[in-house]
Amino acid sequence: MWKDIKNEMETELRKELNFNIKLEEPKIKGAGDLAFSVFEIAKNKQKNPSDLAKEISSELSKLRFFFIKQIAAIGPYVNIWIDWQKVAKSLFNEVNEEYLKKEKNKVVVIDFSSPNPAHPFHMGTLRSTFIGESLARILEWYGYNVKRVCYINDMGKQAMTLLLGYTLYAKDKTPNKKPDVWLGEIYKKISLEVEENSDLEEQVFRLMKLYEEQDKNTFETGKKIFKWCLEGFNENWKIFDIKFDEIIFESSFIKDSKNLINELEKNKMLEDVDNAKLLKLEPKLPNTIIVRKDGTGLYLLRDLAFALWKFKKFKPVKNIYVVGEDQKLHFQQLFYTLKKLGYSDFSNNCYHIGYSLVLFEGQKMSSRKGTAVLWDDVFKEGVDKALNEIEKRWPDLDEKEIIERAEKISLAAIKYFILKYSPEKSINFTWENALRFEGDTGPYLQYTYARANSILEKSKEKIEKIDFDTSILTEENEIKLIKQISKFSSALHDSVINISPHILANYAFELANEFNSFYEKIPVLKAEKNERLLRLKLIDCTVKILKICLNLLGIPIIEKM
Ligand code: ARG
Repeated sequence: MWKDIKNEMETELRKELNFNIKLEEPKIKGAGDLAFSVFEIAKNKQKNPSDLAKEISSELSKLRFFFIKQIAAIGPYVNIWIDWQKVAKSLFNEVNEEYLKKEKNKVVVIDFSSPNPAHPFHMGTLRSTFIGESLARILEWYGYNVKRVCYINDMGKQAMTLLLGYTLYAKDKTPNKKPDVWLGEIYKKISLEVEENSDLEEQVFRLMKLYEEQDKNTFETGKKIFKWCLEGFNENWKIFDIKFDEIIFESSFIKDSKNLINELEKNKMLEDVDNAKLLKLEPKLPNTIIVRKDGTGLYLLRDLAFALWKFKKFKPVKNIYVVGEDQKLHFQQLFYTLKKLGYSDFSNNCYHIGYSLVLFEGQKMSSRKGTAVLWDDVFKEGVDKALNEIEKRWPDLDEKEIIERAEKISLAAIKYFILKYSPEKSINFTWENALRFEGDTGPYLQYTYARANSILEKSKEKIEKIDFDTSILTEENEIKLIKQISKFSSALHDSVINISPHILANYAFELANEFNSFYEKIPVLKAEKNERLLRLKLIDCTVKILKICLNLLGIPIIEKM
């Protein structure tokens, strides 16, 4: 809506003025909704800018634009006032539960969450999980056919260290608690020992070889414990309401990797070094070992095979990886190798959304050293904190409702805090900033939604099919709210273009703010009939859009607070 008005206007201006005009939102109050400076044109035509701005404004004013109320010059700027009453009218007709859902059918693959079996979800896994799922929902809403893919690295050093730990310390035992947490404890113990004892490290590499050769005993034990990890992970995904189209083990690509080696050899991309195989990517990127001298393959080798599998199976228009930025080089090497193998188009449509560090209460964590903060603990802590708050605020709720609400609030706090930052920013998660009911938080969005929804429920007035006279919407807070509602489509679009949910998250926060200021300053239920209905309709649009936003961010809704 907002974007349409702006784009249309820019196109018209380009036609009229023969100049590439970019419209901006003026920062000064009273200067309209959009503006552009005429400096460049003036220089070109050797005219006085202020005179030219007047000239252009009066020329443009002769043309008629549906959503434009007025065009006038202020100094060297041409300023444009939008007819918000008209915008409101068309929004009232358009905004519904399916608002903007487009239909296309192009496939986008998103590889996300992809936890390592060696340890339970930590803050990094959460960032991938939440960004990935939110992206999936946003792209789906936009009309793409999204395939959610999760990759389980069951062949690397971490996985094999865990396997060694299990064989040494827990052989034949079964988990007596959440399995990923149980195995995580074994991993924590063994990984410290492996670091100090080269014999143990050797055993890890031996297991790696046996596992890759699919030695019966090793492979079966490995598969058994990695499936247990998945059971634990599945519990988390269920809480997050995530369903993958494919959960794939790295070891599914052992055979494809062998073929790939041949293909790489044929393309003269490999060099033997001490029996190991070096993938040659210089001068563009550093070369890298892709097969060790004991014959085992590396992460990159299987990830190449996996990428080609995705390409053949889905023919995606975008192939997205939501993985830590520490793997930047890995993905550069992956995409470049695909290009060199002749998959240029595919390679150009591969994206690594590299997110940066998540600190927890200021602390840096290492999962390798076992100092990571785990999802399971964080979630519980959030629930406890929310419980306190709920008992204070809503003493009449019954037990079951209290728990449900606490879980929803804890989830909202954690998710939103992670989603509101663009991926490349490192973030410091603190309860103090995440779990407040005021300010830029998930619970604030939940609370605002519930508040707005309760107003509608309380009024019980039918507002669906009224032909509104929107000309009486003139209060500043009304206009600001209409404006923010009309910007939903651009926020969605920008999230898609930038492949990041943070734009939509920030939009939702602004919408909540505009709504709350509106509701604090403008009477609704006590207003005269016409005003009341119009304002209820505005609240109705807010509720619908907030609901879509929360859903796209994966934040659970609370209908009433
Ligand atoms: N398991 C890896 C990690 O935790 C992420 C895997 C991402 N997916 C991929 N195809 N490489 O770092």
